[in-house]
Amino acid sequence: QNAETIGSVRQQLANLMRESLRATLPELDEEEPIVSACNNPKNGDYQCNNAMGIFSKIKGKSTVFKNPNAIGQAIAKNIPESAMVERTSIAGPGFVNIVLKTDWIEEKIYRMLVNGIGTWGPVLPVTKAVVDFSSPNIAKEMHVGHLRSTIIGDCIANMLEFCHVDVLRRNHVGDWGTQFGMLIEYLFDEFPNWEDIGDQAIGDLQAFYKKAKGKFDEDKDFKARAQQAVVSLQGGDERYRAAWKKICDISRLEFDQVYKRLKVTLEEKGESFYNPYIPDVVDQLRSKNLIVESNGAQVIRVDGYEIPLIVIKTDGGFNYATTDLTAFWYRTNVEKAEWLVYVTDVGQAQHFDMVFKALKLAGWLPSDCRIPKTMHVGFGLVLGADGKRFRTRSTEVVRLVDLLDEAKTRSKDELINRGKDKEWSKEELEAAAEALGYGAVKYADLKNNRLTNYTFDFEQMLDIRVSIKLVGTWTSEALSWDTIIRHMLRIADPAGMCFMVSPLAIVQQGNTAVYLLYAHARICSILRNSKKDIEELKKANSIALAHPSERVLGLHLVRFGEVVEDSVTNLLPNTLCEYLYSLAGLFTDFYTNCKVIDSNEETSRLLLCEATAVVMRACFKLLGITPLYRL
Ligand code: ARG
Repeated sequence: QNAETIGSVRQQLANLMRESLRATLPELDEEEPIVSACNNPKNGDYQCNNAMGIFSKIKGKSTVFKNPNAIGQAIAKNIPESAMVERTSIAGPGFVNIVLKTDWIEEKIYRMLVNGIGTWGPVLPVTKAVVDFSSPNIAKEMHVGHLRSTIIGDCIANMLEFCHVDVLRRNHVGDWGTQFGMLIEYLFDEFPNWEDIGDQAIGDLQAFYKKAKGKFDEDKDFKARAQQAVVSLQGGDERYRAAWKKICDISRLEFDQVYKRLKVTLEEKGESFYNPYIPDVVDQLRSKNLIVESNGAQVIRVDGYEIPLIVIKTDGGFNYATTDLTAFWYRTNVEKAEWLVYVTDVGQAQHFDMVFKALKLAGWLPSDCRIPKTMHVGFGLVLGADGKRFRTRSTEVVRLVDLLDEAKTRSKDELINRGKDKEWSKEELEAAAEALGYGAVKYADLKNNRLTNYTFDFEQMLDIRVSIKLVGTWTSEALSWDTIIRHMLRIADPAGMCFMVSPLAIVQQGNTAVYLLYAHARICSILRNSKKDIEELKKANSIALAHPSERVLGLHLVRFGEVVEDSVTNLLPNTLCEYLYSLAGLFTDFYTNCKVIDSNEETSRLLLCEATAVVMRACFKLLGITPLYRL
């Protein structure tokens, strides 16, 4: 067992514990080890929690083990000799607390520095996945909900890729439907030379949509033409196809501006892509006797819902659900995807639940955890600072590009205030403003549990200030601001969210991308100031985690892989954000307690700085944030 073995620390430890479980109770050869990080670091680094469960299985049958504690003792004793485990202790009803060997942690960090952070990517039980995200609708508003989907979906795709999964990043654009009839007719009416106009000529497509809708509602003749246009479009009429494509192209320009700013890549396979496959999929479902008639529509009835899933509308057309059933068929049969992740607001939870249930009825989706597996990643609403649904200036809709531009402008102003425009080139200033502004928007979204509503607040997301709240009474021997700041740098509470200075004051550090980017840039400046060539330093395997705060930092570093694993298997990016935020705090702790430059331990400590910077950058990459090397 050496530090280079594939898999997270937790996986590697679980492998050892499995051997111990087999040695302890050969008859329970299916028993899987339950290993987790210790909540309280005083108990140890990790714990193995099998004893109680095993005891309830063998109670009354075993003469050897009289209580769970005895099982815990035996499990600890049977852990094979390894380079990994230093010592164990048993707590309460058989919890086995495990302390790792410090030199094993040191070696693991060193190997990562030499071989790259990619070697810490966990292994998942999947090789190919579809992440269906962003997915705005043509000619309609691309709203903050789509922004959340873009940010969360990109992060999940990034994490899967880090875990060696082949990811198909799919933009399931709403580019089909009856609304195109009226849009096309309106285009013909207003722009007789529509074939030759530039993509910018129509300007605001949303306004165009509104006007077309207005005409549709008022003008009977137009309405009839629009309905006929749908038929022509669906019948494949070339002129109508071309007009449809023109409208899609214009919308795409707007979407692409957003993706470009966010540096998000995805591949468009809109609803229209699946049209040719729909009839066959519907036939297959029909042959399974799943489709029944209901009020003139063809539907699938699924458990738990009064309303059925409509597959063919009364007018004979297909709909959103039909397309999703077909897209599933295509993705699993043609593209051979094993996991299908859909990122939309929680408002669509019912739609996906019904679609997944229909797929199970068809036998296309297994009901146990075998592949293929579908997952709906729902998220809450975006609220404004006033607690209402997010809107700018009264009821106007927010253009996402404008929103992102504002984040950038605010960051740029801040940098100029700090005189960076005099220190940096124009390009450097632009790049930093983008990294800060867009990073802030992304992190503010990702750091919350996605299911909660989240408040979009520029002030908050761009905040790095430290606010200090005094609690209790301010007595004569109370703290001076000086001691508060000094303590603040030293004592982080276990949750890593705030710093307890004394019972009198709580210091809250802005949990923002700006703070984290600063933390990273500070490490880079330490490395620069050392004037040492890191590549040279890496030649000697000399990391020594001697000081307690070095060891705490080191342990946190090597846990990166399992944190990504948890974050991606639970589809909760906030887990990764919490890890990154704690990492910044633990680094501050270390740097406050341990002299780096010109110390006897300089080489080791510089390598620890470098390892921290590498892991921080890996987190940034997964979160879609561009790191900055000076700030
Ligand atoms: N276009 C949809 C919307 O804006 C989202 C599509 C999500 N993906 C899917 N396969 N249904 O609400």
